[in-house]
Amino acid sequence: MLEVRNVSKWFGGNPVLKDISFEIHKGEIVGLIGPNGAGKTTLFNVISGFYRPKTGDIFFQGENISRLTPEDICRRGLCRTFQITKPFSNLTVFKNVVIGALSREKGIREAENKAEEILELVEMTPKRDLLGRSLTIADRKRLEVARALATSPDLLLLDEVMAGLNPNELKEMIALVKKLSQRGITLFVIEHIMTVIMGISHRIIALDHGEQICVGSPCDVAEDPKVLEAYLGEDYVAP
Ligand SMILES: Nc1ncnc2c1ncn2[C@@H]1O[C@H](COP(=O)(O)OP(=O)(O)OP(=O)(O)O)[C@@H](O)[C@H]1O
Ligand SMILES: [Mg+2]
Repeated sequence: MLEVRNVSKWFGGNPVLKDISFEIHKGEIVGLIGPNGAGKTTLFNVISGFYRPKTGDIFFQGENISRLTPEDICRRGLCRTFQITKPFSNLTVFKNVVIGALSREKGIREAENKAEEILELVEMTPKRDLLGRSLTIADRKRLEVARALATSPDLLLLDEVMAGLNPNELKEMIALVKKLSQRGITLFVIEHIMTVIMGISHRIIALDHGEQICVGSPCDVAEDPKVLEAYLGEDYVAP
């Protein structure tokens, strides 16, 4: 479904992504891990069209998308959430989702129907009339997922949608991610909480200083010496 081929990205004189290559297959949940500043969000920005890669190409469903705009990529079925959530603070939850839906649906009526369907899916219907600015962190994260889902993605990139949640909220978000997977959405997920990412991912990609240091099953990655050194700490014990 997605092929990232020899992608690099520089900011000024600094390489932030160095020769990254991997594939994501339809139906997978793939985790993306690495320390702060490793380049995870930058990789999402390059895949979703917000940044152009300096070298390399990105193929989505067989088409080279590395020169397309985020809107065009989204219309093809690849959408992402933002690590820093920015709902329209003066609009209701419902209208925030309608705006997401408008990028894919033909008219306002269709977009409203889609938004209602998505609010049911993410279990936010009772909160549909709350304003964006009044939401808790957990609800802002959920709304961010809802806005992305409203574009009907085949591949959804989630950037730390579990960060800052309490244990109960975390459980609910994990359940939502699994539900989306069961509905046929392929997921690429950045997450720092190891027990979570190890538990939900079929495969994991580890980045460190812009380099892809490991790709493999959660067990393989948890035991990889480079990952242990860069990220998990030598005392890490796989759950
Ligand atoms: N727009 C930008 N201009 C210049 N440098 C940037 C820009 N965006 C990111 N960087 C730098 O690129 C590197 C990778 O940042 P990135 O946000 O991709 O890391 P990350 O792995 O998502 O980290 P975190 O876990 O903290 O979210 C960092 O050194 C960061 O300072
Ligand atoms: Mg990030």
